[in-house]
Amino acid sequence: MTAAELQGRWNVLVTGATGRIGFPIARTLARDHNVFGVARCSNPGDEERLRRVGIEPIVGDVADIDPRSLPSNLTYVFHAAARIGREADSDWHRTFEVNAQVTGRLIAACRGVRGFVFCSSGSTYAYQGRRPLREGDPPGVHLGVYSLSKVAAEAVARFASVEHKVPLTIIRIFSTYGPLGGAPADRLERIVSEKEIVLHPNAPNNYNPIYEDDYVRLGIKAMQVATVPPLTVNWAGSETVSAEDYCAYLGQLVDKEVRFRYDDRAPWPLWPDVTKMHEVLGRTQVPWREGMSRMAHARSARRWPLSPTSTNQHNW
Ligand SMILES: NC(=O)c1ccc[n+]([C@@H]2O[C@H](COP(=O)([O-])OP(=O)(O)OC[C@H]3O[C@@H](n4cnc5c(N)ncnc54)[C@H](OP(=O)(O)O)[C@@H]3O)[C@@H](O)[C@H]2O)c1
Repeated sequence: MTAAELQGRWNVLVTGATGRIGFPIARTLARDHNVFGVARCSNPGDEERLRRVGIEPIVGDVADIDPRSLPSNLTYVFHAAARIGREADSDWHRTFEVNAQVTGRLIAACRGVRGFVFCSSGSTYAYQGRRPLREGDPPGVHLGVYSLSKVAAEAVARFASVEHKVPLTIIRIFSTYGPLGGAPADRLERIVSEKEIVLHPNAPNNYNPIYEDDYVRLGIKAMQVATVPPLTVNWAGSETVSAEDYCAYLGQLVDKEVRFRYDDRAPWPLWPDVTKMHEVLGRTQVPWREGMSRMAHARSARRWPLSPTSTNQHNW
């Protein structure tokens, strides 16, 4: 055991450390532990943003970093870096390399850690109609190359975990949201801009959004419960709420009418079963109305007026 470990300090590697999920998790861990954050730092000021909260930046593409150059004596790894959205579609070979192969290489390079978390996605499930998605449900293609690469990544990660005896938790992330954004924040932007909200025709579009405070806590817990063979668990809010209902609430907060359009081409709603998550990680604590209100205040304060009735509803 190293001197740092004797003092209860962990050495944690967080990839995707500038992102919506990686940053708040790394920032929280850095209060008590040594945290190394990997990202390309594509936006101006990213490196400084990490340093300011005590995260040691490792700047580079996860596909190009020599895993042997990573810090030794790591206690935990939270692997969130991935090619997402338009970047995922732009070059599918690279997307499979970054999202799948790199995950296997990292696990192999991190032999000896107590736990490794791989960020998978609720987008890896085939649509099951109007019922929540369970961990044993079959894979499907929700978002093209991205979903395919995450299905592949899970298989690579499972193999690498067992082969190299690295305790692993695969978290299937559903809709995250908070001050740093997420699907509900994107929908809020559309409401403010008076654009319609496009949803799947199989209404209501049920989700279990998970707010930042909760995803930080459950992300850290996920590292600590990792096992060989790996644990696979949905990662979402404990409450179900439809996009129709939370958008209506966001509309009230910003005093805008919300217009919905139902379209067969819209991605199907990602509605998780959180029974297993409650057993292994626990429940979330931020009620959806409070979370949506906190998000709207954090993102809107300087950009658009909130409805007078929406102010001071919560103590934060
Ligand atoms: N947020 C959600 O609701 C959600 C849902 C399902 C799954 N997930 C999964 O959760 C993880 C984190 O998502 P997020 O929402 O936090 O995404 P995000 O905000 O877009 O952050 C992605 C992070 O990864 C870094 N990154 C991307 N490509 C990289 C590369 N090739 N090398 C090194 N760093 C790279 C980005 O920084 P640079 O661009 O500067 O490198 C950024 O720090 C991803 O694996 C994603 O698939 C998220």
